[in-house]
Amino acid sequence: MDFINHHLMNTYGRIPVVFDWGRGCMLKDTSGKEYLDCLAGLAVVSAGHANTEVAKAVCAQAEKLVHVSNLYWQEAGIKLAEKLCSMSGGKRFCFFGNSGAEANECAIKLARLWAGEGRFKIICAERSFHGRSLATLAATGQPAKWEGFDPLPSGFVHVPFNDLSAFTEAVDDETAAIMIEVIQGEGGVYPAQPEFLQGLRQLCTERNLALIFDEVQTGMGRTGKWWAFQTYGVEPDIFTTAKALANGLPIGACIASESFAAAFQPGNHGSTFGGGPVVCEAALATIGYLENGGYIKQVTQKSRLLTDGLKDIRHVVEVRGCGLILAAVLDIPLAAQVVEEAFHRGLILNAVTKDAIRFTPPLVISEQQLLKAQEIFRKAIRTVIR
Ligand SMILES: Cc1ncc(COP(=O)(O)O)c(C=O)c1O
Repeated sequence: MDFINHHLMNTYGRIPVVFDWGRGCMLKDTSGKEYLDCLAGLAVVSAGHANTEVAKAVCAQAEKLVHVSNLYWQEAGIKLAEKLCSMSGGKRFCFFGNSGAEANECAIKLARLWAGEGRFKIICAERSFHGRSLATLAATGQPAKWEGFDPLPSGFVHVPFNDLSAFTEAVDDETAAIMIEVIQGEGGVYPAQPEFLQGLRQLCTERNLALIFDEVQTGMGRTGKWWAFQTYGVEPDIFTTAKALANGLPIGACIASESFAAAFQPGNHGSTFGGGPVVCEAALATIGYLENGGYIKQVTQKSRLLTDGLKDIRHVVEVRGCGLILAAVLDIPLAAQVVEEAFHRGLILNAVTKDAIRFTPPLVISEQQLLKAQEIFRKAIRTVIR
């Protein structure tokens, strides 16, 4: 496989390996070498690689009907929207796109339409990540990622995460919404403090703002509940999810409470492929698999096992996160080198910052595999940090 003379745009610093097989938490490259995947494609394949139930659902739907315009109804989309709303509580409505960025674009447009003329500002957090489209990039609180793309859409304000006073002070007559990740993923795995989320909820209610939670990375059971906000008991007006929704097939959802969803009328928003029958059946199969297999319930126990094990490793000074989105923080900024060494040893992880290494394994990972991951990680650290 020639990846030296490829024709793909240079948007990723790819590791020189070609994967061609996956099953559960295991991946194989073209040389036959096996890897234990503790990243799950960045929190995507929660039900495991090449999940049979999802594959069956995709094949069955692909043989029946692949696409019909959103000018018409189809059963899978109706069923998935109903399921997602029942997982969220309250009366809510869904819009389906094809990615996390599109789900967030929808949330931003919906909030601005709901807020009405003159109210367009969205207050976001520093260090946040909301996507790569122009509006979601503008919402992203990482200035390095904006470079070269001016002018970005205006109206996005950034203040420090977990700083309720800063969010409160940033609100003015032009503010439409507050948008945050419940746990910042790409920024380094930083969970929101409970008082901060509760304070934002109160602030949004008092000032008539939309509270938007980006659950693209934290949703679909990764924290032990379907949505991370359920672990805090704080309800958003609008939230988004994507990554693990269809276990690797492209779909994103924006889910809004009735009074917010009502702002959209036909013609305000759309997507040709969004919520097509094949991806919706894949999502329904993913949800069914995670639910029936008891995997969401097991997250807390697996999280404890992983956290305790990681804390025991020399040079790990902190383990941040919740459920199965965790970062092991090193006492030396050698995260990239440790990840590379772990990779050579057959363990897939990722460095979110210079000193933090992210673990987002498939939720179906076994306790034995978690122990194996810790052992490889320990050896990788020992090799890199002497
Ligand atoms: C919290 C969050 N929001 C949005 C996105 C963008 O999702 P996508 O890459 O599917 O557009 C990501 C991707 O990492 C994310 O972690």
